[in-house]
Amino acid sequence: MRQTTPISGTRITAAEPPALPARWDPLVRDFLADRTALDRVAGRFGTPVHLLFPQVFARNLARLTAVLDAARVGYRICYAHKVNRSAALVRTAATLGTFVDVASAGELDSARQAGFTPDRIEVTGPKGEAFLRSLVGSGVTVNIDNQWELETLAGLAGPDSPVPVLLRISGFPDSRPSRFGIPAGSVDRALDVLANSRDRLVFRGLAFHLDTGDIAERLGAAKTCFTLFEQACARDLLPSVLNIGGGLRQVFTADACRFDDYVHRLRDGLTGRGPRMSWGGDTFGYQVDGTSVRGTPVFHKYANTVAADVMLAELLTAPLDGHGGRGIGRVAADNLLEIWLEPGKSLADHAGITLARVEFVKESADGSVLVHLDLSRDSVTPADQEVMVDPLLLPGHPPTPPGDPVGVYLAGRLCLERDLITAHKIWLPWRPRPGDLVVFPNTAAYHSDLSAAAAAMHPPAAKVAIEFRDGTYRATPDAGFHPRPPGRESLTPEVP
Ligand SMILES: Cc1ncc(COP(=O)(O)O)c(C=O)c1O
Repeated sequence: MRQTTPISGTRITAAEPPALPARWDPLVRDFLADRTALDRVAGRFGTPVHLLFPQVFARNLARLTAVLDAARVGYRICYAHKVNRSAALVRTAATLGTFVDVASAGELDSARQAGFTPDRIEVTGPKGEAFLRSLVGSGVTVNIDNQWELETLAGLAGPDSPVPVLLRISGFPDSRPSRFGIPAGSVDRALDVLANSRDRLVFRGLAFHLDTGDIAERLGAAKTCFTLFEQACARDLLPSVLNIGGGLRQVFTADACRFDDYVHRLRDGLTGRGPRMSWGGDTFGYQVDGTSVRGTPVFHKYANTVAADVMLAELLTAPLDGHGGRGIGRVAADNLLEIWLEPGKSLADHAGITLARVEFVKESADGSVLVHLDLSRDSVTPADQEVMVDPLLLPGHPPTPPGDPVGVYLAGRLCLERDLITAHKIWLPWRPRPGDLVVFPNTAAYHSDLSAAAAAMHPPAAKVAIEFRDGTYRATPDAGFHPRPPGRESLTPEVP
């Protein structure tokens, strides 16, 4: 009789190999199922290659917009450009009428070239003097990170070119420490500078961005900002904006129960209670102490199942302490404040995949199977984080070969021990052969760009935009992709 492991109400047979099933967007899934289209793209652009799907981006945007419309509050969605360098995605955002959040001079140039006018651009992140100087007179809104920035900008700006500013706040009572922002307890000094520079700096409001998906932390931050607005008003500084940043989550997993099961087995492998499922001594941030495993792994976000629009709806409507049961949306609307958002990963969610090819397969001294690919770990992992979602294996040439699942580690092309694309074992449906394709799901948000380097003189993977139009998939080099203005043909087509 087969053993079963009950996880979160479902039963997974222990005979099944551990798995981290990926969610695939229907448009992406259909593209991958169209072998002719896929081979055409792989043949024309080679591998490794990042494929971007502007239509998925557009659909994500439409979902967030619907939530904000329903909340009946004024708003701006500022696409956080840092999530991906792609010209296709930033042009899509520009064409669809969003605003943009840029965090460097390079991103600012890219946004301008995509068609964003200064009144649609917000500059975030830490800025040096040269960058601040270049912003004066440009018409963009500057989201001030710290007191030095504020004072420097006040010194650089003049009455003939006043600069619109937001103050980024941090240090909220129930939040983790942040290296960014002006501490909530020190805002008085910043407000004094604003009050004394009103001919040069135009106070628009307050901002925060929390590096967590936690709703309660955001509610706490918003509550603090509403209190700080009173201090601003007391100085006759009239705010019109509450910027709640980014952080809306992505959904990577298609099966949270299997994710839990995988992690359970991975932990058992670390203590020796089950077969080892990690390369070398990797513990993924867990502290392994004899038979116990403690701590938080470095990959927790991959199990999320709450979609960004659902999270946003809850964030806007959950009752705020001390505001008579009203949520952020209502309190903002009642105080004539616009809500600004800076979504990055939630707009790029499922708007990209990465295609690589198997170079060869070998076995290491301990018998582990290593599948060598033609890309490196930094092209598919954000900030070296272990990506806990299974890639898809496709035969180099159809048909799909018969085979039994085989547990492997994916190895990168760099001549470095650490260049393992998966340091956790993954099970593939057959033992890969040279020329087979490996598709990494959902790589557009940070995964493809955040750490990518031209190490060992390998050029970074190319980017190609894929669009489904007139019954077929069209591939355009990212730099040359220009979305058609929404109108006669929607950017969010029905999935074929
Ligand atoms: C200030 C700011 N806004 C927005 C974002 C985008 O966040 P996310 O991609 O989590 O939506 C970031 C990301 O680091 C950020 O630093």
